[in-house]
Amino acid sequence: MTRNTINDIRQKKNNEKIVAVAAYTYPVANLIDEFCDIILVGDSLGMTIYGHKNTLDVTLDMMINHAQAVVNATEKSFIMVDLPFGSYEKSKEQALESAEAVINKTGCDAIKLEVTTNLLETIKYLSENNINVVAHIGLIPQHIERLGGFKIQGKSSEDSEYLKNLAQKCQEFGASILVIEGVIENIAKNISQNLEIPTIGIGASPLCDGQILVIDDIVGIDQEYSPKFVKKYDNLSENIKNSMKKFSNEVKNGKFPTKDHCFF
Ligand code: KIV
Repeated sequence: MTRNTINDIRQKKNNEKIVAVAAYTYPVANLIDEFCDIILVGDSLGMTIYGHKNTLDVTLDMMINHAQAVVNATEKSFIMVDLPFGSYEKSKEQALESAEAVINKTGCDAIKLEVTTNLLETIKYLSENNINVVAHIGLIPQHIERLGGFKIQGKSSEDSEYLKNLAQKCQEFGASILVIEGVIENIAKNISQNLEIPTIGIGASPLCDGQILVIDDIVGIDQEYSPKFVKKYDNLSENIKNSMKKFSNEVKNGKFPTKDHCFF
């Protein structure tokens, strides 16, 4: 099987929807690879894997370790990796150094940055250095404090113009893919229809060129977390608890292990 290239992903625009999932570990990436066009090693791993409150304490080494596992586990999906907070905002040179460290150590296919206007030159610089750049706009979690919490973006006409303009500029400055998160539906739709590069939505619009969710949300691993933009396709938290209840009872009652599980 050959891995999707950036051209394969670009050609899907206006032809077929793009399926993208954020995942972080070898066994999970290995299970989902056949169903995905793109797997994102997202810095949401700070919350989902490490139990942090937000993404701000995720390090470049954490991203590299998880990206290595995901690249090793997959054959087909295009692998994008987040640059974490603090690893790319200072200067375009800092961004290139971090992006090259991730690509050289993992073999991933693209780097994702959370973008505001002052990151446009960095997109240009990375793409001029042959790096596939994914620009993430809208409700960008690394800016959560400045945005005043997890608030849907594009509600005011000023904000909606800002987002549409920023999306166009991301394309102009060399981004290969745009991720649109937590944005009013008709703005995400308008952006998707006016760009040549593919858009991937999360809490955005069905008319984005693709959709992304975090694997933990798709399979329902966290009972408490149920935001409006998530659809849970399973209830893994219940399945895990049921298995654990049975294992715990059998250990306590002496029903596990039986002779079948022992060596003679
Ligand atoms: O970190 C992440 O998982 C993300 C996606 C949810 C878009 O950025």
